[in-house]
Amino acid sequence: MASSHARDTLARTVVALPFAPGNVGPLRWPFAREWEDGRVAYLDAASTEPLHPRAREALLAALDAGWADPARLYGEARRARLLLDQARADAADALGVRPDEVTFTTSGTQAIQIGMLGALAARRRVGRTLVVSAVEHSAVLHTAQAHERDGGEVRIVGVSRTGRVDAEAFAEAVSAPGTALACLQTANHEVGTLQPVAQVAEACRRAGVPLLVDAAQTLGRLPLPEGWSLLAGSAHKWGGPAGVGILVIRKGVRWRSPLPEDERERGRVPGFENVPAIVAAVAALRARMEEAEEENRRAFALVDRIRARVPELVPDVEVVGDPVERVPHIVTFSCLYVAGEALLTELDKAGFAISSGSSCTASTLRPSHVLEAMGVLTHGNVRVSLPRGASAEDVDRFLEVLPPLVRRIREEAGVMS
Ligand SMILES: Cc1ncc(COP(=O)(O)O)c(C=O)c1O
Repeated sequence: MASSHARDTLARTVVALPFAPGNVGPLRWPFAREWEDGRVAYLDAASTEPLHPRAREALLAALDAGWADPARLYGEARRARLLLDQARADAADALGVRPDEVTFTTSGTQAIQIGMLGALAARRRVGRTLVVSAVEHSAVLHTAQAHERDGGEVRIVGVSRTGRVDAEAFAEAVSAPGTALACLQTANHEVGTLQPVAQVAEACRRAGVPLLVDAAQTLGRLPLPEGWSLLAGSAHKWGGPAGVGILVIRKGVRWRSPLPEDERERGRVPGFENVPAIVAAVAALRARMEEAEEENRRAFALVDRIRARVPELVPDVEVVGDPVERVPHIVTFSCLYVAGEALLTELDKAGFAISSGSSCTASTLRPSHVLEAMGVLTHGNVRVSLPRGASAEDVDRFLEVLPPLVRRIREEAGVMS
């Protein structure tokens, strides 16, 4: 029985803090979490993807070869500069853009903030209206709030019950005079629904409004849509190390730095570049793109299986997001009469690392703005997102463990299923 399996399995978390009093023993790395009768199934790729083996190799090599300051003139620095230039050229080649359009940031969030604020600053004379969808990542929505506090206007375009933005409403919003910038994600991070980026990009082109695309959930997995002006991505989502983002600003797009002057990254991103991490990030991007077709085929079928089986196995469940127009690896469902956190904690004890769709804003304890905008159930929410190489066994075990856990939580809450 899966519930006794959950009870019987002993979670041992071995965490050695390097500076804890009395802890002078060797630091154990990686912080290991082992189950007596099996490994942990990591099903939270939408939060972060484990480091790709090619990224690890590239990182180790570049730590030795690319540690110096690429802005200096001696041999070690020139070597770091060569590595950085090559990474930029490779990233540009992978994305089908020019190397001088590519800048490396310190996260997807920073790419979004700098991209949005710089485009808004450059078009201040045209107008101060920003158009975004209601289901953007908090990085976009928080930047929109900052723009509003600065006297700008924000227009929010709604989505359907599957989380897909209304392309016509978006087109109408961007055609209003005074629109400075539009932002749309390629796919939603909580429910996996793909957005009509090509249609929206065409409407933006007709209106003469630049479009910033947040491609964090699709870079390395799906081909890029056409027609955008600025693009943001995040390396740890495609198997690169954390601490690297990418901002692409197409030639001819107006952009003015919203930050104090700094000469790094052509004046677009401040501070000394983390060359080894950038090299590793680009190695992972290329590797993921090479593997995408096969990975996507497998993930799409596994997610289809979860989408079909969960409502059969668990009563009072709503699977949310578009069943077809979706990324291959994400599925989200909500269970009536279940506290999401309790379910995630139980799944953790049973050996599954899984988040709820709203994990990015979980610390605020507010219901997910994405699920609210879709008008679907917001509680008891579970987002399963498959990393590279996720196995059918993990999914089968998940489907075996989930129903008794939900039943138990409902019974403990006094709700019989
Ligand atoms: C759609 C989307 N945009 C932006 C981000 C932010 O990326 P980062 O974690 O690199 O700041 C995320 C990460 O959760 C995301 O899913």
